[in-house]
Amino acid sequence: PFPWYREMREESPIRYDEDRECWDVFRYDDVQAVLQNAEEFSSERPLTAQGENETGGMALETMLNTDPPRHDELRKVVDDPFKPGAVKHLAPHIQDITNEYIDAVVDDGEMDIIADLATPLPVTVIAELIGVPADDREQFKQWSDTIVEGPGAATVSAETVREEQLQAQAEMATYFTDLIEQRQEDPRDDLISKVIHAEVEGATLSEGETLGFLALLLIAGNITTTNLITNAVRCFATLPDGIESVRDAASLELAIEEVLRYQSPIQAVSRIAATDTQLGDHDVKAGDRVVAWNGSANHDGDQFDDPDTFVPDRSPNQHLAFGSGIHFCLGAHLARLEARTALSTLFDRFETMQVSETELQPVGSSFLYGVQELPVQFST
Ligand code: HEM
Repeated sequence: PFPWYREMREESPIRYDEDRECWDVFRYDDVQAVLQNAEEFSSERPLTAQGENETGGMALETMLNTDPPRHDELRKVVDDPFKPGAVKHLAPHIQDITNEYIDAVVDDGEMDIIADLATPLPVTVIAELIGVPADDREQFKQWSDTIVEGPGAATVSAETVREEQLQAQAEMATYFTDLIEQRQEDPRDDLISKVIHAEVEGATLSEGETLGFLALLLIAGNITTTNLITNAVRCFATLPDGIESVRDAASLELAIEEVLRYQSPIQAVSRIAATDTQLGDHDVKAGDRVVAWNGSANHDGDQFDDPDTFVPDRSPNQHLAFGSGIHFCLGAHLARLEARTALSTLFDRFETMQVSETELQPVGSSFLYGVQELPVQFST
């Protein structure tokens, strides 16, 4: 999409698209201004089919689609476990899980980065944080896989995929309903217990809202982190001396930020104008949809030198891959830690790693950046 973004930034940085019935915003400063102005550009959305897709049919109000004050109260419920200090404690455990996934393929000489590591890792980590018992994790991963599986990835018809997704959603909802009941009687130190016992605007959440909350945590962090890890493997493969220049911890940290900028897993986020307002010199009416293309902002030459080149040690790197303002990604520290662990483990355990760049299929959504499979050959 990068040449198209460039053209848009130059020719029509803010425009109304009649077909999609929304405003598109392409420049860094404008995208940031929209995201930082939650009063005029609201995240509150009617419960449409889109909401169903994003949160697996369990959609109700979540922090992602509410405005203050409710947004802030919902977010506060789970803020602490996602802060850097709390996330840091997960590092050894995330390392163990990563080693297990590599152990399972290490004798094969080849693996699919996505299926064998980048998909199961974030699912397992978030399932544990939520409080899914170890025995149920395999079942749980199957539901998650089915729910996020794009129709393009399957050999069966789109209707069959849709039916399977609905089935998996229903089963997962039933499963969570049971787990919620268990935790109501017997709270533990997990996210599910926090959410059940939280007071939001003076009341506990309904069962539907609790399900929506858990679904958001699950769905927001999985495919995005999968794509970050996968995009990193692809970007690093294009470097002149391969992974050598990103092997040490400090270089890897910078390089992951550059992957976030260069191939942002989420390319755009949307808002609704809360009042009649201005976008640049355009008049926007209350109720208009506004799509902020952070993927384009991250390639804006006014913000980044040489924006269409992957520069692994780029610094500073104020990318908008995790958004900006009050909805800034809750899971950013966790996603970074998972990516660092996955990538450094691949480097440690594999002597060489070859990516085949041919015939990679993009994921089936223009708002996400990633591929469906990433086969690599390696030696140990
Ligand atoms: C919000 C990106 C990983 C949970 C966001 C937003 C972006 C984003 C762009 C802002 C959405 C908006 O403004 O409307 C990413 C990327 C990730 C990632 C690129 C991986 C590389 C995670 C993980 C979690 C997570 C691991 C873990 C639970 C959330 C939540 C929100 C959010 C709950 C809503 C925050 C709010 O509304 O206050 N993410 N995310 N994300 N993300 Fe992430």
